[in-house]
Amino acid sequence: MARITWWMSCLITLSFSLLTFPAAAAEKVDLALGESVFKEICFSCHGLKGDGKGPNWTGTIPRPQVFANPDYMSRMTEQYMVDVVKYGKLAVLKKETPPADYEAVAMPSFEDVLDDDQIKRLIEFEKAILAGKPTDPEIREIFNDACAVCHGKEGRGDGERVTKVMPAPKPFVSAIQPPPADYTNQAFMERFPDDYRFWLIKKGKIGVTEEKGFDTMLSYGHILSDDEIRSVIHYVRETFILNRK
Ligand code: HEC
Ligand code: HEC
Repeated sequence: MARITWWMSCLITLSFSLLTFPAAAAEKVDLALGESVFKEICFSCHGLKGDGKGPNWTGTIPRPQVFANPDYMSRMTEQYMVDVVKYGKLAVLKKETPPADYEAVAMPSFEDVLDDDQIKRLIEFEKAILAGKPTDPEIREIFNDACAVCHGKEGRGDGERVTKVMPAPKPFVSAIQPPPADYTNQAFMERFPDDYRFWLIKKGKIGVTEEKGFDTMLSYGHILSDDEIRSVIHYVRETFILNRK
């Protein structure tokens, strides 16, 4: 009921502003339209419940993003999400999209500074953080030097480069998009097999996608209108992220 009231007040505001400023071509955001786009296209990977386990969820590596993971998802800006759907994530990370009010940062490549054994031990380190166990001191030092600036000393994705918009603890909107992985967040970390993590750290997010052929979110701008994209992101945020208990 609260949602309907809110929605009706938006409609009233929208029609009012259209009446007042007929020239301003405001994008229309329509929750019902967003829901129908989600149930036609997005559910197949992201799942009807936003759990990232739609019928095609095993078809991509990494697995589809888990929208019903509000601690992680609330760190993404709405504009980043809209751009990812319109242009695809690779184009956003390569900054091939129109200038935006967020800082797109791809996970960097470490092949010039870390050997394969160090990369493998870093993957064990991530798992140890998730399991709440103490970690190898040498790897802890590498992590502090190379990774903590984005991932945070405790691997919570809240390093000093990230927390400009709103300080941790969560939820906060990260200044960099997508927000760095939070190693303490199981729903997020379960999306990656070790092989993917290895190549990600070695080649970076752009390299792992372009050179190694791993997946990422594709563009839907050729299928969906701007209104449909805004609406489906609005649906995702309302349904899975903002209003979740
Ligand atoms: C073929 C499977 C597939 C479909 C269909 C799909 N997605 Fe995705 N989506 C993914 C994958 C995989 C990721 C994770 C990308 C990554 O980690 O690089 C993702 C990530 C995202 C993200 C978060 C970006 C990030 O940095 O994690 C958003 C937002 C998103 N998708 C929205 C949508 C919307 C909206 C639709 C429907 C219009 C949709 N997706 C359809 C596979 C899909
Ligand atoms: C400049 C910031 C930055 C630094 C430094 C950095 N990362 Fe990342 N990392 C990111 C971002 C941003 C993501 C989110 C990637 C995504 O979802 O596309 C990420 C994601 C990850 C992931 C999750 C997989 C994924 O695709 O989301 C792992 C694992 C990871 N980083 C490991 C590391 C390790 C190990 C180091 C140090 C050797 C490191 N990162 C250093 C920014 C950084």
